[in-house]
Amino acid sequence: MRWLEIALCVFFIYNNVITANPTAQKEEEEKQPVKEEQQTLIADENDEKKVYDNYRLPLSITPDNYKLEIFTHLNDSEGFAFKGIVEITLTVHEFADNITLHAKNLTIPTMNIELRDVTENENVKIKSVELMPKHDFLIIYPQSILSKFRKYVVKIPFVGSLDTDLVGYYRSSYLDKAANKRIWLSVTQFEPIHAREAFPCFDEPEMKATFDISLAHHKMYNSLSNMPLKETKEVESVKDFVKNTFETSVKMSTYLVAYCVSDFEYKESVVKMKDDVKFRIYARRDAMEQVDYAAEIGPKVLKFYEDYFDIKYPLPKVDMIAVPDFAAGAMENWGLITYRETALLYQSNASTLSAKYRVAEVVAHELAHQWFGNLCTMKWWSDLWLNEGFATYVASLGVAHLHPEWKSLDEESVDNTLDIFKVDALKASHPVSVTIGHPNQISQIFDAISYSKGSVLIRMMHKFLGEKAFRFGVSNYLKKHAYANAEQDDLWHSLTASAHEEQSLPTSISVKDIMDTWTLQVGYPVIDVKRDYDTNSATITQSRYLSDRYTTRSDLDFCWWIPLTYTFGENRNFTSSSAQDWMTCNKNKETEEKKIENLPDSKHWAIFNIQLAGLYKIKYDADNYKLIVDTLNSDEFETIHVINRAQLIDDAMDLAWTGQQDYGIALDMINYLKQESEYIPWKAALDNLRIVNRLLIRSQLYGVFKAYIRHILKPIYAKVGGISKVPDQTQLASVKHQSMICAWSCRFDVGDCVKKSVEFFNNWMIETEPDHINPIPLNLRPVIYCTAIRLGNENHWKFLWQRYVNSNVGAEKSMIISALSCSREQWVLSRYLEWSLNSTLVRKQDASFVFSGIAREEIGFFLAKSFFFDRIDDIYQTLYPDTSRLSRYIKPLAEQMSTQKELTELKDLVSIKSKAFEKSSQGVRQALETVELNNQWKINNYLQLASRLNHMRMRNFDYEDEIAEENNEKKSATELSMA
Ligand code: BES
Ligand code: ZN
Repeated sequence: MRWLEIALCVFFIYNNVITANPTAQKEEEEKQPVKEEQQTLIADENDEKKVYDNYRLPLSITPDNYKLEIFTHLNDSEGFAFKGIVEITLTVHEFADNITLHAKNLTIPTMNIELRDVTENENVKIKSVELMPKHDFLIIYPQSILSKFRKYVVKIPFVGSLDTDLVGYYRSSYLDKAANKRIWLSVTQFEPIHAREAFPCFDEPEMKATFDISLAHHKMYNSLSNMPLKETKEVESVKDFVKNTFETSVKMSTYLVAYCVSDFEYKESVVKMKDDVKFRIYARRDAMEQVDYAAEIGPKVLKFYEDYFDIKYPLPKVDMIAVPDFAAGAMENWGLITYRETALLYQSNASTLSAKYRVAEVVAHELAHQWFGNLCTMKWWSDLWLNEGFATYVASLGVAHLHPEWKSLDEESVDNTLDIFKVDALKASHPVSVTIGHPNQISQIFDAISYSKGSVLIRMMHKFLGEKAFRFGVSNYLKKHAYANAEQDDLWHSLTASAHEEQSLPTSISVKDIMDTWTLQVGYPVIDVKRDYDTNSATITQSRYLSDRYTTRSDLDFCWWIPLTYTFGENRNFTSSSAQDWMTCNKNKETEEKKIENLPDSKHWAIFNIQLAGLYKIKYDADNYKLIVDTLNSDEFETIHVINRAQLIDDAMDLAWTGQQDYGIALDMINYLKQESEYIPWKAALDNLRIVNRLLIRSQLYGVFKAYIRHILKPIYAKVGGISKVPDQTQLASVKHQSMICAWSCRFDVGDCVKKSVEFFNNWMIETEPDHINPIPLNLRPVIYCTAIRLGNENHWKFLWQRYVNSNVGAEKSMIISALSCSREQWVLSRYLEWSLNSTLVRKQDASFVFSGIAREEIGFFLAKSFFFDRIDDIYQTLYPDTSRLSRYIKPLAEQMSTQKELTELKDLVSIKSKAFEKSSQGVRQALETVELNNQWKINNYLQLASRLNHMRMRNFDYEDEIAEENNEKKSATELSMA
């Protein structure tokens, strides 16, 4: 008899069974009517209605060790399933009449649950077992009260199914070339609260314990877990099965437990660590030639962190594995890090430099978690930012260490800051440290606020504390809370001590005073600098920056401790970014009006927030602006730091958005770009213009706006070498710059961009072996593919789709997935949207890329919109259970909606389908606010921008000429694409 049948017999025929899943429960009930004399262990239906809002586990019982044994069955002819037994050693801290732990979607034969009092060495009878599905609770009631300070062991058998839902213990597959068949593997994804779907456990980050894991599976597979293999034995009861037992883990949280059964191969890194940490990269056989880059950088960056934190990596090994179906980018499971293929694999002739950067970034991020998150873990998810913000910031240091030639540090921090300036200006944003009321909220806070704002705030602290105090404080914090948990106050405490020791903060100020204003409050400030040119002084005030111009008192009742940095036109110094002064904010949210003396005379500007060291915007008076604009437009523009050049543009555009300033200032500022060749300021400008572009694209004004964009792009398109210049593969910023400028130029028909792109693509199409020979410059492929697909026909699309199907490189596949959404063929797009719900054509993990790609296109938007409205139930089903991803659908749509009618439609959908949007409530609120803001912008800014652009047109560029030229280029592109 096959093992699974044996298991099911044991569980179902002779025992009571409860299924920690109400739907599955019903099915089981039909199959196995509960005998009368047995206890009824069906989840109490009324439980859903009970008012019981505390989702947290009681603290009276905590786990010390889990002995976990899992049998994995990976053969589809016999059903995909796992069965297991967990033995949890518990400490009872207070007399307890029950053991409450988590279990979800597991079938548990309750009569086989055993409880033993280890201290007294006796068995304890179990009175009853109950489920609370709403809370994912499994509650075991013993016959007698559990005594304080005694140790108990509870033993729970369970069965689960290996689904393709990308969470818990799930299955993934790939097509093996040589065998020409689909091969399955199984892997875990437990963060944040999915361990409970794989085995009954105390699934909260503070409930740390050690783990002894054994994995049994067919001998054709290998298995991996957090710790190295201890021994392998044959399983006597099941033919051809082996059982691998792994070493006891260190004390850790359940969300970091991992295991995997696969036929993957590995390469061991040749870069050796001093303490002989074994570093291996696992992937499917056909992808093994793509693992070298990760194998090279992994140990290097691990070593960098060991030195940086002054703490050794505590495990004997690191395994990193590329999983074909993977929901996130990567997951930092201690000692067994799992990745999406695009985040771990790199192939030099198929992955762009940006894809290589992505691998470095993700590897550095997950390895940083081995300290921030794994060694020292947040007490509760409300402090998730401590994990993700730190990993993001420290990874940027790690990448800069690996690749100083990329000069990525500045760029990454500016990127993050500009991103946050937009997201955190919404009323629907949330504080970095956020109260979690319902488990649905947990997956939603893995967002830009926790990652980017978290990281930007840590950078801000790094700057105002200085290198020594920051490093010392962080290292002490990690040492003090190693193998334990911490809250943000613990971090503030360690940093304050080191800051006072290093004298980087006066003893009267603590890091908590400053940082609580940034992490407990939503949003960020704009400071208003009013210069008095008679007294050479300035008065500075602060207020919250909101994209919404209609604010109430409660929206604005905020203040922050702001590290002030500034420099003046007469002796510009942009090198030091440590705080020169502070704006304060007391407990009653009273802020002072700050006066700064010794400013220069009226001929010289003042610029605040050097290198964007703080998360704040600045509004200057008109005279100071004029001085800055004059310098930017002079040959001295580079004496203003490149980050500040970007900041000036972003601030001016945001202040124009809310009407606090005229668009004239922003456009004057952007005007200097004609002499700018650096990436960062261009990125700031184009990111802002992209938003305006979305709002104008269907309006009368679009002609003049387009002419304006063409006017500013023309010189820079030539300067970067256009689409024909092969980018230098080592220069990250210049590669990004060239591809960004080309993407815009092709979109706006500037120069030969379209013509050459179509030529390149047509040349590729006539290759006899297009999967092996691709004449298109690697780093410009995203732009060229998109342009050719946009202007091409069905054949172009079919050709590229075939390349997607045939490609063996994740990064290449995802580049193609995005490019295919650039089409303007409506039926092709409709079919593509349909395919996005078919996991055999588009992997589940990539479905949202197809949708958002199409939604962002001019014609695609309308199709995506109806698809979203008509097929919301199917989209929900495809994403299920991680339906928080609906945010990735609703946001790109909302960005392009601006009428009251659209707002009402969207609101109606959300309210009719409220269940579907339950886990994306935050994304929904942000989306609705975005539509409202777009509407406001059109009403208030449209005419002003029109008049500024028209005014500029008369001064600077000839609209009619631009249009004529544009038509010519369109004609030649069409001819080519039809060739
Ligand atoms: N801890 C996360 C993985 C994760 C994300 C788990 C969301 C559960 C929900 C991991 O460390 C992470 O942050 N991964 C990022 C990549 C990183 C470079 C920003 C990701 O998945 O995108
Ligand atoms: Zn992370």
